[in-house]
Amino acid sequence: MLYQELIRRKRDGDTLSAAELAAIVAGICDGSMGDAQLGAFAMAVLLRGMDLTERVALTTAMRDSGDVLQWDHGPVIDKHSTGGVGDAVSLMLIPALAACGAVVPSIAGRGLGHTGGTLDKLQSIPGYDIAPDAARLRKIVAQTGCAIVGQTAALAPADKRFYAIRDITGTVESLDLITASILSKKLAAGLDALVLDVKCGNGAFMTDQNAARELARALVDVGNGAGCRTMALISDMSQPLASAAGNALELGVAVDFLTGRAVEARLWDVTCALGGQALTLAGLAQDPDHGRGLLEAAFRSGKAAECFGHMVAALGGPTDFLENSATYLPAAPVVRSVPAPVSGVVTGYDTRAIGVAVITLGGGRRQASDRIDPRVGFSDIVPVGTRLEQGDTLVRIHAADAVHADDAIATFLRACTIGDAAPAPLPLISACVDP
Ligand code: URA
Repeated sequence: MLYQELIRRKRDGDTLSAAELAAIVAGICDGSMGDAQLGAFAMAVLLRGMDLTERVALTTAMRDSGDVLQWDHGPVIDKHSTGGVGDAVSLMLIPALAACGAVVPSIAGRGLGHTGGTLDKLQSIPGYDIAPDAARLRKIVAQTGCAIVGQTAALAPADKRFYAIRDITGTVESLDLITASILSKKLAAGLDALVLDVKCGNGAFMTDQNAARELARALVDVGNGAGCRTMALISDMSQPLASAAGNALELGVAVDFLTGRAVEARLWDVTCALGGQALTLAGLAQDPDHGRGLLEAAFRSGKAAECFGHMVAALGGPTDFLENSATYLPAAPVVRSVPAPVSGVVTGYDTRAIGVAVITLGGGRRQASDRIDPRVGFSDIVPVGTRLEQGDTLVRIHAADAVHADDAIATFLRACTIGDAAPAPLPLISACVDP
């Protein structure tokens, strides 16, 4: 098979067969497809698109480009978020699903663009190993029911090279390629079921409902087409989901949630809605309401917290992390409360700008090789609709030094609008996309 012929046919709008797409994926992995050819192929896909059979064939070929994990027990499930600001859901949901009887080997990602990554958050915990080998991962999942870890070079290796080429050829935005990229990595964990949280709003990659629904539909159809029971919720990302944005700060919110010290309503609703769906897909609940009830009980009984604590300890973190998280989580040297400049109601946020500000504070990467400062970010962010008097705390800034703190204060004040009346609230979950 000549790569240039396959590229030409896709350029002209032809449908490629599963064997042809498998040949391309093999060429990505063994290097026989050159960078220029891969870039041209990506552009042809971006411009011409793929039908469902092509999407499934590309995704499964990429999934099978490395190891696909096998498990003795099930149901094996996971959750994926398309990314947002203050999105700490995985930290609570994964152990709660394990507490409800699921097997949850969760392959999580680092921050992407302005969005935070679960792995970066977990690395705020001293000793937490995000890269156990396959045998250790298997043992930990067998013992604790869950493990949140990073992708290894052995899982979906085709995606690594393909993503790097897309990144420099203006082809990241292809819906077909985003779908194959996300799902190939998730499905390499050997999942029976997957629940997707497709974020929509000014802090998400998909800023409008139509785009979010299109992505959710593609992911759900391809996931099911690849043999994994998959569904998606579309959830609001027009404001930070948690009251904090920043790695150790979000972990603190998750610990408070798991231990019941402080449970934030928006986080609770999104986590329990996703969990109810996941347990239903997994066959552990009769329907999403039943599943939600089981998940809520796992939080209330402390079983979810117990699973989280066991997971952290098994992966090398402190054995008393939940009890003494404040002593383990690194704290920023400069913490400033920002007073509300006027009295009124918080009417909205430029959520993306808040995510970017976390990076500027050092909590994300400018270059792939950058080290993250886990201490920095924002806390005490109030939900849209909150009434404040002038001088009340609007937010707290956590920074490495005064210069960064000043900069973040100015950015936050620009990113937050205060008006006279609360806007009509947006639904937290706007759609459910089923097979
Ligand atoms: N996340 C991924 O893993 N891949 C993409 O292409 C986009 C988001």
